[in-house]
Amino acid sequence: MKNLLTVLLFSIAMLGANAQCTLTNLLTENLVDPIGIDQTKPRFNWQLQNSGRNIKQVAYEMEVRKGSVNGPKVWQSGKVMSDSSVHVAYKGAALQSGTRYWWKVRVWDNGSKVSAWSSTAFFQTALLQQADWKANWVEAGYKEDSILRPCPLFRKSFSLKKKVQSAVAYITAHGMYEAQLNGRRVGNAYLTPGWTAYHKRLQYQTYDVTGLVQKGENAVGVTVGNGWYRGPIGFSNSRDVYGKTLALLMQIVVTYSDGNTETITTDSTWKSTAGPIRNVEIYNGEMYDARLEKTGWANAGFDDKDWSGVKVVGATKEILLATHNEPVTKHEVFQPVKVFTTPAGEQVIDFGQNLVGWVTIKVNGQAGDTITLRHAEILDKKGNMYFANLRQAKQTNHYILKGGGTENFEPHFSWQGFRYVQVKGLREPLLPENFQAVALYSNMQPTGTFSTSNTLLNQLQHNIQWGQRGNFLDVPTDCPQRDERLGWTGDAQAFSRTASFNMNVDNFFAKWLQDLEADQVNGAVPYVIPNVIDSNAVNSAGWADVATIIPWNMYLAYADRALLANQYNSMKAYVESIRKVARDNLWNNGSHFGDWLFYRPEDDNDGRSAVTDKHMIAQCFYAHSTQLLINAAKVLGKKADEEMYAQLLEQIKAAFQREYLTPSGRLVSSTQTAYVLALQFDMLPDALRTQAAKRLNDNVKAYGNHITTGFLGTPYICHVLTRYGYDTTAYKLLLQEKYPSWLYPVKMGATTIWERWDGQKPDSSFQTPGMNSFNHYAYGAIGDWMYRQMVGLDTYEDEPGYKHIRIQPHLSDSIKQASASLKTYYGEVSAGWKLQGQQFSLDVTVPPNTHASVFIPALNANAITESGNSLNAVADLKVKGMVNGYTEVEIGSGTYHFAAPAVKTN
Ligand code: BGC
Repeated sequence: MKNLLTVLLFSIAMLGANAQCTLTNLLTENLVDPIGIDQTKPRFNWQLQNSGRNIKQVAYEMEVRKGSVNGPKVWQSGKVMSDSSVHVAYKGAALQSGTRYWWKVRVWDNGSKVSAWSSTAFFQTALLQQADWKANWVEAGYKEDSILRPCPLFRKSFSLKKKVQSAVAYITAHGMYEAQLNGRRVGNAYLTPGWTAYHKRLQYQTYDVTGLVQKGENAVGVTVGNGWYRGPIGFSNSRDVYGKTLALLMQIVVTYSDGNTETITTDSTWKSTAGPIRNVEIYNGEMYDARLEKTGWANAGFDDKDWSGVKVVGATKEILLATHNEPVTKHEVFQPVKVFTTPAGEQVIDFGQNLVGWVTIKVNGQAGDTITLRHAEILDKKGNMYFANLRQAKQTNHYILKGGGTENFEPHFSWQGFRYVQVKGLREPLLPENFQAVALYSNMQPTGTFSTSNTLLNQLQHNIQWGQRGNFLDVPTDCPQRDERLGWTGDAQAFSRTASFNMNVDNFFAKWLQDLEADQVNGAVPYVIPNVIDSNAVNSAGWADVATIIPWNMYLAYADRALLANQYNSMKAYVESIRKVARDNLWNNGSHFGDWLFYRPEDDNDGRSAVTDKHMIAQCFYAHSTQLLINAAKVLGKKADEEMYAQLLEQIKAAFQREYLTPSGRLVSSTQTAYVLALQFDMLPDALRTQAAKRLNDNVKAYGNHITTGFLGTPYICHVLTRYGYDTTAYKLLLQEKYPSWLYPVKMGATTIWERWDGQKPDSSFQTPGMNSFNHYAYGAIGDWMYRQMVGLDTYEDEPGYKHIRIQPHLSDSIKQASASLKTYYGEVSAGWKLQGQQFSLDVTVPPNTHASVFIPALNANAITESGNSLNAVADLKVKGMVNGYTEVEIGSGTYHFAAPAVKTN
């Protein structure tokens, strides 16, 4: 009976292997059915679904139609012999503005089977020419209260004469906007139009508003807030960084069912008035006076005769561009886990997670009652709300009731970084069900999972992910709570590879990197992007290198060659900006943050602080950026650059060795970071690398298996240890529970990554309040090692984007199981290993149209089985040989279960 079942299952599996592929996950410009793209040659992705082994695409055919699923064909690719299923560029007739295109694809696989046509996906173009903008910029027509600067409301009634077939709205603002049509919110995006280098690049959003308008009377209403445009931003809380006055630009294109169109635009016929948001700033929060609401103001029939007109202004439309990345939207919703009174007598709600977003409330009371919500990340030693680390940021929302029933409040145009909220002003007892915390972040697809047998490590992964959620709000911010929240370049580069595991950050970074290029100063890269600090605040080593590091990381993770090509000039200009100031090929000038926030104990009696020479660090990053530029030149076929920069790189390394290395291999700074950077970036002659790695290992031991690196050494330390055979030490660092270490904050109850190794000390006192964020992702960069080395899930550079996958786990006896999965553009890849007694096992799933090199820790290939069969008996795979204690096996798509006797690790 059992045998029969096995035969049956086997036959089903074989059937599966031979079945034709189905096609899913159709993306245009890496997005699902995007509305409002301005690329004239958009790129398409699709996934082959097939559980069989070794399935590959050998050809594809694409069809794109205009206007409707059965509209005229604008591109029929014919059968293209190619295995490309990712970033396939459109090659049809020129695309038109404001038009929806429908596409489908079919593929031939290596078993000569042709798939059925996929279901149909679409994309809709934005306004491709500047002349397509018929709207004019408008500003409020009344005199503004220049102290509070309440948010203006803009409105207009309009009538549509015929039955509506479709309607599209294009909106942007100087400031942040929220729009309504006939009293209903337009779209689900927040903090729009997002943050860019506003002087040079301003995004607009495109919305399908077909369902929000109708034949007859209609009305549009838009609220505009200060946002990044003119609200306090940067260290000195400067106002009006981009301009003094808020403005709106909006255009609604209605297509009637007879095919005629009508366009409603911002113009001199609009009305404006100050609304109920009396004041709102990103850092400080909002003051909302419900008594000032204009009931029905965004509906037709509203009487706006008391409202002011608007001022039509000639602000530029030349810098407008369609949104490139995913909008900020609402995500997780948290209920209170605890409501309590602090020793200071304040009523506080604990939401159980340090998150970024806001608290929504439901209240009853009398007109004029004020509910105050003040947010904090952490409680102090005594159990009171801790606000000092917020610096000047008030993070406080005030809601003034209108009275007369239940009222709901949801904030606007700002966000708070918090776990706890203090509630004041309630007339009635606090009911937890009336309070919710809503997480807001860019709507990137979650792609990665990681879990192990160690619960502290799982919490660390949780904290890394929440660090990302909290700080990927349209731009990668350093922190979400204090009066900073800036696109710090060093933090972003350090975390970028880890970020690409947890979520799809391809478009997120593609957009931000364009702002980077826009804000470069003669090639030099500002500390923060968009740059709101100072145009001289540029080129700090390890920060500015974001210009080369992130494009390369995105190329690796997503095979996004277009992103790399777009950034190439920026990358080159950055390297040239260093070359210009280098003396004898040494980058030994300028001001640098160095290995920011490295370990520096307060009781430093024996001089144990881990200070690394800043110019030595700069030289390492000069080399690294030059290397990445060479890599990019190679990918993009820029032969002359490749050769020129290869020569420069040799000179940079020679200069490094002359200046910072003794003949016997000591570096001028004997710190972990010094050896980590020198080894990671191949700065040392071959003959001196092994001893340098030993020095690093010895240093870690001398610190009792503690990490002492700051922002720059941390991302690489475990990679370097692994590369030079010190896995055991890498694991000791990872599993270290005492300060300084990754798990120390976890043991202290952290739910996000902290800015400092010791943000909260063992006695529950805090580090200096001027620099002590509890939601700062940089140290979360260890996530990259956890995915790529611990589980061992990586991509090869020769076929990036996980077309050629590398699976090579690094084990430790202290961990019994580790697994990870990643949604790549090809489909989901996963790997998971287990140690059970004397037995090691490794489960691997590889998506169709990719292949993988799997390294199984076993000295003898004959001892390895796959799904119970000895490797030689499995026709679907190839044993390549032995490498450093691993057996290398080449596999194609499918699911594999490998087992082998466990090898002793530590
Ligand atoms: C930020 C950092 C940043 C640093 C530069 C801080 O204020 O929060 O994360 O990289 O300044 O040194």
